[in-house]
Amino acid sequence: MDESKNPDSSSLARPSKPTITKQKSSWPFAFFVTVLVPVVAATLLYQLDSFDPAPLPPDVLTGHVITVPARNDHILRESEFVGVGNLKAPEDVAYDAKSGVIYTGCADGWISRVTVNDSAADSVVEKWVNTGGRPLGIAFGHNNELIVADPEKGLLNVTADGVVELLTNEADGQKFKTTDAVDVAHNGIIYFTDASYKYSLSKFIWDFLEGKPHGRLLSYDPATRTTKVLVRDLYFANGVVITPDQNYVIFCETPVRRCRKYHIQGKEKGRVEKFIDYLPGMPDNIRYDGDGQYWIGLPTARTLQWDIAFRYPFIRKILLFMEKYIGRPPMEKNGGVVAIDLAGNPIAHYYDPGLALVTSGMKIGNHLYIGSIIYPYILRLNLEEYPAQAAT
Ligand SMILES: *[C@@H]1O[C@H](CO)[C@@H](O)[C@H](O)[C@H]1NC(C)=O
Ligand SMILES: *[C@@H]1O[C@H](CO)[C@@H](O)[C@H](O)[C@H]1NC(C)=O
Repeated sequence: MDESKNPDSSSLARPSKPTITKQKSSWPFAFFVTVLVPVVAATLLYQLDSFDPAPLPPDVLTGHVITVPARNDHILRESEFVGVGNLKAPEDVAYDAKSGVIYTGCADGWISRVTVNDSAADSVVEKWVNTGGRPLGIAFGHNNELIVADPEKGLLNVTADGVVELLTNEADGQKFKTTDAVDVAHNGIIYFTDASYKYSLSKFIWDFLEGKPHGRLLSYDPATRTTKVLVRDLYFANGVVITPDQNYVIFCETPVRRCRKYHIQGKEKGRVEKFIDYLPGMPDNIRYDGDGQYWIGLPTARTLQWDIAFRYPFIRKILLFMEKYIGRPPMEKNGGVVAIDLAGNPIAHYYDPGLALVTSGMKIGNHLYIGSIIYPYILRLNLEEYPAQAAT
């Protein structure tokens, strides 16, 4: 910051009589005001603030990225915009094939139902239920209800009649702070994540910058109304999906660019193993399309800025100060969606340099529907017209 623009320091600096002696001594004084004061102030703030970023595990710092065999790197100009102006940052996209309706949760608390016709411009948005919070993950329950992960409220049951009921908002005596994503198994058990027990959604960047695992994978059993912690110490536990064979729940950890799977059945119940590492970006929601592929929203591709920040805790501390007091420089770009097969192999990557903070992707028919936490619409890409091409 330029201290010379500070009215107090400039009045201090104003010499009463511009004598030669004063002019001689003005250089050290200017040095004091413009260099020393800010440096000392910044150092003091740095020392005083309790924010204490941690080193990340070495294996996530390699900067390695898996090779995705096909890509489309300019999806923005090829996409249509659904529900322009009627959807405020639609984060997750859930499709009810029976009614042909898309459900999505928005920043103003609304869960909207979106009917999309042949042309995106003809889509109809119905503001259905307001949770009074900020609905993120959405999944269909077995009694025509919607199960909603709301970071401000917890895990919610939104009944077919539009009544909002809290299912759970804490586990092992620890409240959820960012209930994030959810899926429902065939047997009715609900699997979901609390991305961070420490920071609320509006401060999710703080969680990334601190670099400590505050996330948990949880389950809720509606029959017994019990909430269980399945895996703790996760790095911003985000997207959740149950595998079609019902043997695993896959969960994504955003800053460390990986998704892992947790055995929910059989002899190995409770074991966590690799699903996919070194994603080309930071994963958010993961959805299964019923047709052999998972779709993972990537708010940002891997960027040099984030690579450096993750490597050096003191850079993250500086970034936190910027975030707090002057605004953080943009570090996200090439947001998009990656398709992964059942075995965890990458298939195709759809993204655009102009996209950031994309959070979900869902293939419905020939179209990819893309949600985000910033845009006032759902993006829709015709995958037949604009397929990913073999990367050369
Ligand atoms: C879109 O399709 C739905 C369902 O078929 C219909 O109810 C609605 O009127 C259509 N909207 C427009 C704008 O054509
Ligand atoms: C949600 O509420 C409805 C209506 O009371 C009920 O039928 C359903 O079982 C509830 N779902 C869960 C998961 O508790």
